Amino acid sequence: MSIYINESSGIDGLSTVGSADKPFQTASYALFAQSEGNSEPKLLVFKKEDNEYQEISASALKKAHKGAEGLKKKALKQKELDAKKQKQQAENAARQMAALDIKIEEDKSLPTAHRVKINKAPEFVGQRVKVYGWIHRLRNNKKLVFIVLRDGSGFLQAVLTGDLALAKQTQELTLESSVALYGKVNKVPEGKTAPGGIELAVDYYEIVSLAPAGDDSFTNKISEGADPSLLLEQRHLALRGETLSSIMKVRAGLMKAVRRVYDEEGLTEVTPPCMVQTQVEGGSTLFKLDYYGEEAFLTQSSQLYLETCLPALGDVYCVQESFRAEKSHTRRHLSEYTHIEAELCFLNFDEFLNHIERVLVKTIDYVLQDPVAGPLVKQLNPNFKAPTLPFKRLEYNDAIEWLKAHGIENEEGEEFKFGDDIAEAAERRMVDTMGVPILLTKFPVEIKSFYMPRCKDDPRVTESVDVLMPTVGEITGGSMRISSVDELLAGFKREKIDPKPYYWFIDQRIYGSVPHGGYGLGTERILAWLCDRYTVRDCSLYPRFTGRCKP
Ligand code: 4AD
Repeated sequence: MSIYINESSGIDGLSTVGSADKPFQTASYALFAQSEGNSEPKLLVFKKEDNEYQEISASALKKAHKGAEGLKKKALKQKELDAKKQKQQAENAARQMAALDIKIEEDKSLPTAHRVKINKAPEFVGQRVKVYGWIHRLRNNKKLVFIVLRDGSGFLQAVLTGDLALAKQTQELTLESSVALYGKVNKVPEGKTAPGGIELAVDYYEIVSLAPAGDDSFTNKISEGADPSLLLEQRHLALRGETLSSIMKVRAGLMKAVRRVYDEEGLTEVTPPCMVQTQVEGGSTLFKLDYYGEEAFLTQSSQLYLETCLPALGDVYCVQESFRAEKSHTRRHLSEYTHIEAELCFLNFDEFLNHIERVLVKTIDYVLQDPVAGPLVKQLNPNFKAPTLPFKRLEYNDAIEWLKAHGIENEEGEEFKFGDDIAEAAERRMVDTMGVPILLTKFPVEIKSFYMPRCKDDPRVTESVDVLMPTVGEITGGSMRISSVDELLAGFKREKIDPKPYYWFIDQRIYGSVPHGGYGLGTERILAWLCDRYTVRDCSLYPRFTGRCKP
């Protein structure tokens, strides 16, 4: 039998017969296609030079046989693969059918499950519990489904096995769905780790609300490391992430700690108003509002109100939002921030400074001792060093000399001189170089607020202080307060402020004036320092700054 081969007009395919009108393209394929036959075919190859078919040469035939063997093997392999695929498809279909039939039901013969929060679950090893939460992580190995459940108190690893894992409902679970898991709390085997050292062997679960899959799935809306402006747009979802939620827990720990310290220091908490008609820290950063037709502002600081509380309640403090229309975008300025402010009476400047450093050291100690916040600070900021007493004290004038000596320039790119504001960049370079907390004191009258008294030994400067911390710079600003009416009126005049709306504040200096002082702690700045965050925006629940007032 003769088989025809034509390299240029032939086709290697199942429909080719190998006749002179329908030749194969290659000798290998021709042999492969004829391999079922009994006799060896005669191969005729078209020679272009002679324009005719001639019998194949011995060497070409040998090569063709080799090629045909290769093609045979390849075809066999493909056949095997096809069969495997078919089997798998059949199995999947069977599993899906079976999954449809699986009913997720609680086995009533099991012990009643204790309702627990995740942070308490390690106390229930060996017992059956019920835990509500959100699916934080989900890994599906078909026969085993791993869930990391989050309930705000912690994270719990849970495993679903057997029919529970195979059920259609389980296969369709999604991240951020809310569920109630039932099961036995087990210690994780030696060498394995899980939050709290435990794992929940789930025997039953209920879906409270299923989160969407596909285009609207949680991971499509937000993913870690996404563009910061997108993360801010989706802040309500981003807050569910481990980092932001940890910072918010440290924040709660900080609030608790500072209230405990103020209680120990004998201060009373008050709640001054946010809607005011006076300024504290300069007109340029006031947020104006129409108050029933009268001009009013969102408070820049509760200081003036705290001062009025002294004769009524003694030393006081507040935790209140302050508002600043800061036009520039910086890593440490917000338009709204949580201001922890304190006001103390019958004390001198030195006692005042001692109080501030004591409050800061004790507060940080309490945060680190807190069973929730302490470990989170370690996690977020492993190198954090708690400050110790006493802080380095540096007068403004000496700071200017230090900046000059270190070649650090002012905002105008010139050598620092007395009277210059030490702006953010220079301040940070100074405190980062010194590497310790600094009480920077005695700022010139001209760069500070109207209410700050002059130092008796140098009337060019005030009894004022900024507390600077490495990595963030200023976290606290405060001062003693002018206690004489005349000096205060001169301050108003210097700052071109009409004293009329301040009649109540001036009265403070008329009805039993006393030496007093106070300060404000920037909550978000303390947190940025404590949690090692680049920006204070990470430390506010819903940060506000120019261009952002939502969500
Ligand atoms: O230094 P400041 O402006 O001081 C006052 O408002 C005083 N009246 C407080 C007082 O004596 N009761 O602000 C105090 C602190 C700063 O050290 C800083 O930590 C924080 O408040 N702060 C801000 N935090 C975030 N965003 C802003 N725009 C801030 N402005 C000040």
